[in-house]
Amino acid sequence: MPEIQNTYNYKVVRQFAVMTVVWGVVGMLVGVIIAAQLLWPQLNFDIPWLTYGRLRPLHTNAVIFAFGGSALFTTSYYVVQRTCHARLFSDGLAAFTFWGWQLVIVAAAITLPLGITTSKEYAELEWPIDILIALVWVAYAVVFFGTVFKRRVSHIYVANWFFGAFILTVAILHIANSAAVPAGLWKSYSAYAGAQDAMVQWWYAHNAVGFFLTAGFLGMMYYFIPKQAGRPIYSYRLSVVHFWALIFTYMWAGPHHLHYTALPDWAQSIGMIFSLVLLAPSWGGMINGIMTLSGAWHKLRTDPILKFMVVSLSFYGMSTFEGPMMSIKTVNALSHYTDWTIGHVHSGALGWVGLVSMGSLYYLIPRLSGRTEMHSVPAINLHFWIATIGIVLYIAAMWIAGVMQGLMWRAVGEDGTLTYTFVESVKATYPFYAVRLLGGLLYFSGMLVMAWNTWKTVAGGQPADASIPAPAMAHA
Ligand code: HEM
Ligand code: HEM
Repeated sequence: MPEIQNTYNYKVVRQFAVMTVVWGVVGMLVGVIIAAQLLWPQLNFDIPWLTYGRLRPLHTNAVIFAFGGSALFTTSYYVVQRTCHARLFSDGLAAFTFWGWQLVIVAAAITLPLGITTSKEYAELEWPIDILIALVWVAYAVVFFGTVFKRRVSHIYVANWFFGAFILTVAILHIANSAAVPAGLWKSYSAYAGAQDAMVQWWYAHNAVGFFLTAGFLGMMYYFIPKQAGRPIYSYRLSVVHFWALIFTYMWAGPHHLHYTALPDWAQSIGMIFSLVLLAPSWGGMINGIMTLSGAWHKLRTDPILKFMVVSLSFYGMSTFEGPMMSIKTVNALSHYTDWTIGHVHSGALGWVGLVSMGSLYYLIPRLSGRTEMHSVPAINLHFWIATIGIVLYIAAMWIAGVMQGLMWRAVGEDGTLTYTFVESVKATYPFYAVRLLGGLLYFSGMLVMAWNTWKTVAGGQPADASIPAPAMAHA
C-alpha cells in the first residue's frame, strides 16, 4: 500500500513506549517490595511465591528485560526509521516482536515466582522461554537491519551502530549461554560444567551489562541528546572511536565477576586489565554526550527533559569509573559479596539506564500521540527531582553499608580470630536498608508520576504516523 509506505510505523513504537512505562512501574514495585523484605522478612507472609529468593529474579528480569528491553525496542524502532528515512522493514514481524516480547515477560512473571529457574543470574528463564526469546530476537534483527538496508540516505547514523551492535551481540550471548540439555518441560541442565560454566555465564552477564544496559542506551544518547539540545553531536569522530573501542573492550572484562574463584588466575587478571581499559571509551562516550550541550547549557535551566539526559550521563560516568576500580583484585577483595556491588548496580541502573530512558520517552510520547509536549511539564520536573534524590539516597546508603560490611568481615583480633560475627554485620546494615527503601520509594513514586503524565498525554492526543520526507530532504 503506497500511502503506508510513505509513513513511519509509529504503531509498534507507541505500543512499546506505553509498555515501557507499565513494566517500569511493575518492576520497580517489586524492587520496593524486596527492599522492604530485607527490613521486614515477615513480608513474605510465609507464601513460597512471595519469598525473597523468588521475587529478586522477578525484579531483575522485570526491570532489565521488560522495562529496559521495551525502552530499547521503542527507541531503536523510532531512531532507525527516522535516521534511515524508511518505514520498518516489516510491519508483521515488528508486531510479532511486540507480542512475542510481552509473552516472554508474562511467562517470566509466572515461572519465576513458581520457583522455576536455571539459577544462572539474568538468564534464569527455562529453555522453552529461551527458545521464544531467540525467535523474537532474530525477528528483531531482521526488522532492524532490514530497515537499515532499505534506507533512503547513504549514511548510517552512529546511534544505529550502537543499536545494531546491541542486537547482534545479545543474540550471540543469549544463544551461547542458554545452551542446555532439557530434562522435562521446566527443567534443564547447562551444556557447560564447572569453571567453564561460570566463565560462560559471566561472559554473558557482563556483556548483558555492556550491550543490553549500555550500548543500546548509548544509541539513545546519540539520538535524543542532540535532538533535545538542538545541537549536533559534539564530535562525530569521537563517536566512531568510542564505538569500536567500547565493543572491543567489553568482550574481555567478564572474569572480573569471578575474582578469587576456581577460574585460572591469568583469566582473572585479563578481566581486570580490560576493565581498567574500559574506563577510557566509557568516559569518551560520556564526554561526547555532555559536550553536545556546549553552547546550549542555558537550556538546562528550563528544560526538564535535558536534565534527565545530562544527569543520566553523570551517573554513567560515575558507574563506569567505579566499575573499573571494583575490578582491581585488591579492591574486589573488599567489595565482593557486599552491598557496595548493589550500590554500583543501581547507580548504573537507576541513574544511567533509568534516567536516559525516561528522558527519551518524555521526548517521544508527545510526538507519538500527535501532541507538542507532555500533558504536564511541571510533573516532568517533579519526577526528575524525586528520582534524583531517590537515587542518591539509594546508592549512598549502599556504599556506606558495603564498605562497612567488607571491613567488618575482614577485621581480626591480635589472636587471629574474627572481631565480628556475621550477624553483627547484618545488624549494623539494618539502618542503611531503611534509607535504601526510602530512596527506592522516591524513585518508584517518580515512575508513578510519569505513568499518570503518560496516560493524560496519550488520552488527550490524536495518534498519527508521520510521513517520510522526500529523498532530497536530509534531516531526520
Ligand atoms: C566500565 C564499566 C564497568 C565496569 C568495568 C564494571 C565492573 C564491575 C565489577 C568489578 C563488578 C563487581 C563484580 C563482583 O564483585 O561480583 C560489577 C558488578 C555489576 N555491574 Fe558493573 N561495571 C561497569 C559499568 C556498569 C554499568 C554502566 C552498569 C549498569 C548499567 C553495571 C552493572 C553491573 C551489575 C548489574 C553488576 C552486578 C553483577 C552481579 O553480581 O549480579 N556496571 N561491575
Ligand atoms: C524503585 C527502584 C528499585 C528498587 C527499590 C530496587 C531494589 C533492589 C533490591 C532490594 C535488590 C536486591 C539487593 C540485594 O540482593 O541485596 C535489587 C537488585 C537488583 N536490581 Fe534493583 N531496584 C530498583 C530499580 C532497579 C532498576 C530500574 C534496575 C535496572 C534497570 C535494577 C536492577 C537490579 C539488578 C541488576 C539487581 C541485582 C544486583 C546484583 O545481583 O548484584 N533495579 N534491586
